[in-house]
Amino acid sequence: MKSTITDHEKKLAAYESVSLVKNGMVVGLGSGSTAVHMIRKLGAEVAQGLSVRGVPSSEKTAQLAHGAGIPLIRLEEAVTLDINIDGADEFDPKFRLIKGGGGALLREKILAHNSNLNVIIADSGKKVSALGKFKLPLEIIPFATQTILAEFNKMGLKPVLRKLSKKTYRTDENNYIIDIDILGIKDVAKLNSNLIETPGVVETGLFLKSTDIIIMGKGDETIFLKNNRQKERSSK
Ligand code: 5RP
Repeated sequence: MKSTITDHEKKLAAYESVSLVKNGMVVGLGSGSTAVHMIRKLGAEVAQGLSVRGVPSSEKTAQLAHGAGIPLIRLEEAVTLDINIDGADEFDPKFRLIKGGGGALLREKILAHNSNLNVIIADSGKKVSALGKFKLPLEIIPFATQTILAEFNKMGLKPVLRKLSKKTYRTDENNYIIDIDILGIKDVAKLNSNLIETPGVVETGLFLKSTDIIIMGKGDETIFLKNNRQKERSSK
């Protein structure tokens, strides 16, 4: 029952986000089950005559968007996105996110960073008072796996190398993902800098300053949260 309600909330948020997409826009297409609803709805709008071009954040999303009839371009052709719409694993009251549950955090962060309007769509279960119940995904270079695991173990971060069907999970960039435990760590900005400074860490799933709008489905409603802070493009 719970999963049905959650999916209903995801769908509501996703559908509302599509109403922000206007004719001629270049749209960043996120990954995950909430983004799937958004892509299907956007595809339906395209079939009705809306003209957009999409930049997918993962190979899975590319396939889905192609199937939904959304014309796709590469990021280098677009350079800047008019809007980027993506899901999240957690968000806090400061519009900070954990992302990467689906393993697409690197390309997702690149799209978020290069979009004029960054919209997060989520079910109400994603709202938290402090980040960290969800394990934080990090994309790492395979070569550095053992050194990173040893270092983060010493730091008490309980790193776990992500597996899929008993094999080490590979990202679209052919890297690995480790999931770490950051519950109780208050200064997530400092944590993020420390993580990113570790050789072999390519990117973290902490999205700290890129979110403009969060659309959250709650029951049969959507809640529209607008971030009024000046966005700092230079920091992630
Ligand atoms: C993928 C992500 C997703 O946005 C995140 O995992 C949310 O997924 P879902 O919409 O399925 O709850 O970061 O890398």
